[in-house]
Amino acid sequence: MRRFGSALLGLTVLAAAGAASAQVASVIEARQNNFKAIAKAFKTINDELKASRPSLAVLRAAAADLTAASQRIPNGFPAGSGPESGVKTEALPAIWQNPAGFTEVANRHIAAVRALEAAAQSGDIARIRSATDAVGPTCKACHDQFRLKK
Ligand code: HEC
Repeated sequence: MRRFGSALLGLTVLAAAGAASAQVASVIEARQNNFKAIAKAFKTINDELKASRPSLAVLRAAAADLTAASQRIPNGFPAGSGPESGVKTEALPAIWQNPAGFTEVANRHIAAVRALEAAAQSGDIARIRSATDAVGPTCKACHDQFRLKK
């Protein structure tokens, strides 16, 4: 009976671990999809700025998407969702070892995309261009420190 009880307990623990890892996998997948959305919105803006007469409607919609997705970055990295989870991820342990540094680069990026959104609202293409150019380095600053290099 005792043995049966502890075997049962073992199974329960295993089932809980399985549920936890499925949850971690979905958190990681969601943040990766969010980065795909960020990259897509940013590309839309860069591509549109190459047009002879860039569409403000396209720029404004993509800038709004970029801001919304960028604001989700800080919540996408709960404890336990790093490489130690066993799930494939390019997130480096530095994110959890240096949370203040991660928050700082994330906030700098969010400030840059907000400025871009404000520029898009203004309708001034030159201002949109320079605000767009200011965003790329904020992606790179984070990737350099916190994303696995391929
Ligand atoms: C605050 C940090 C941070 C910022 C800012 C940031 N990224 Fe990332 N990015 C990451 C991390 C960390 C990953 C790896 C996520 C993972 O694999 O779990 C990543 C992954 C990605 C991916 C791969 C997604 C996939 O799995 O297919 C792309 C594409 C990407 N980022 C583009 C961008 C672009 C473009 C910007 C700027 C417009 C940007 N990122 C800004 C940290 C950041």
